[in-house]
Amino acid sequence: MDADFFISNRRSLSERIDGLVVLTAGKQMQRCYDEAYRFEQEANFWYLTGINEPDWKLIIHEGESVLVAPKISEISGIFNEHLDAKQALEISGANSVIAESELLDYLKSLTAKNAYTIFPQKQSDYEFQLNSSQNDLTKMLKKHFKNLNDVRPNLNKLRAIKQKPEIMMMRRAINLTRSAFEIVKSELDSYNFEYEAQARFSYEFERAGASHAYDPIVASGENAVTLHYNSNRDGLRQNELVLMDVGASYGGYSADITRTHAFGEATERQRAVHRAVKQAKDQIIDLLKPGKNVKEYLSESDEIMREALKSLNLYESKDDFRKYYPHAISHGLGIETHDPLGAPETFAAGMVLTVEPGIYIPEENIGVRLEDDILIKETGYENLSKLLSSEL
Ligand code: GLY
Ligand code: MN
Ligand code: MN
Repeated sequence: MDADFFISNRRSLSERIDGLVVLTAGKQMQRCYDEAYRFEQEANFWYLTGINEPDWKLIIHEGESVLVAPKISEISGIFNEHLDAKQALEISGANSVIAESELLDYLKSLTAKNAYTIFPQKQSDYEFQLNSSQNDLTKMLKKHFKNLNDVRPNLNKLRAIKQKPEIMMMRRAINLTRSAFEIVKSELDSYNFEYEAQARFSYEFERAGASHAYDPIVASGENAVTLHYNSNRDGLRQNELVLMDVGASYGGYSADITRTHAFGEATERQRAVHRAVKQAKDQIIDLLKPGKNVKEYLSESDEIMREALKSLNLYESKDDFRKYYPHAISHGLGIETHDPLGAPETFAAGMVLTVEPGIYIPEENIGVRLEDDILIKETGYENLSKLLSSEL
């Protein structure tokens, strides 16, 4: 993405709010004394700056964008890559860069009535630890601004509607994922282990300058029943299904595709489950269009999944619904694999979301999921991954 994209995103955000905005990059997390985890930028910060390094900050005030450069220790300067001010300005199209040591005085000099930042998500909503950068910034800003507001809902709404360059990046990520899936499918019978498929995807992505958008899932037989199985160490066994949920990340944007194939000959039952999931996927995708009410979409897709379970004699009581189909049908897709859709009442042109029905039967060691990436258009929808066969 070039600087114009980030400049225009900052302008769009400014138009939605009345006040100044202060945002932070993610913090670098250490895995041990002298080694850091691979850094992944906070998605909103990237959307507004294009900067992929930790600990930077951004202030948007009366149409001016000011970057705050982190203090780099002498040791870090020797060992790690760092952007200098000129590079940061080129990438982001911001107006100026100040040093972290100047931040407090700069904030004091600003006179806006309202200030905005991204409030940290409630830790109690998660089973895991969140990056603490937003929490730290929010605490600091509360001391300086009486009227501090959460800008996340505005950003979610902006990010939900993909612009042309974003859709172009997503098409590339999806096409790359499609061609890797086609290679893996054609070679599958020659593999002995799940990780051979994973390695092939990684090779195809990395040689194209892409990476995995999320930890890939290559799950054979009963492993497919564990939704986020990603150890991918097991052997492949004849007459079992192999579920592969894999997506490239290209130019900052994700693909998220799942196919389930047979290793050797599929049994009649495996075929029937696969057929039911495929039919459900096609029907659910066909519900999508701009203006479609989201609650209606969710209840209609539930009904389609209920019918699919009934056709396989898997629906005796209400509890069987969540037992055999224990996840959501869709999520937004974009910079993040689970990208915000802005909590809309209805779908709108420019939204990209997955459709991913799955049926998992632990007592039969069968798990089938099929997942496509759908762009809502003025006239209906486009299935961006439709060129990849969903057949067994
Ligand atoms: N690959 C994660 C998901 O499908 O949501
Ligand atoms: Mn998904
Ligand atoms: Mn997926």
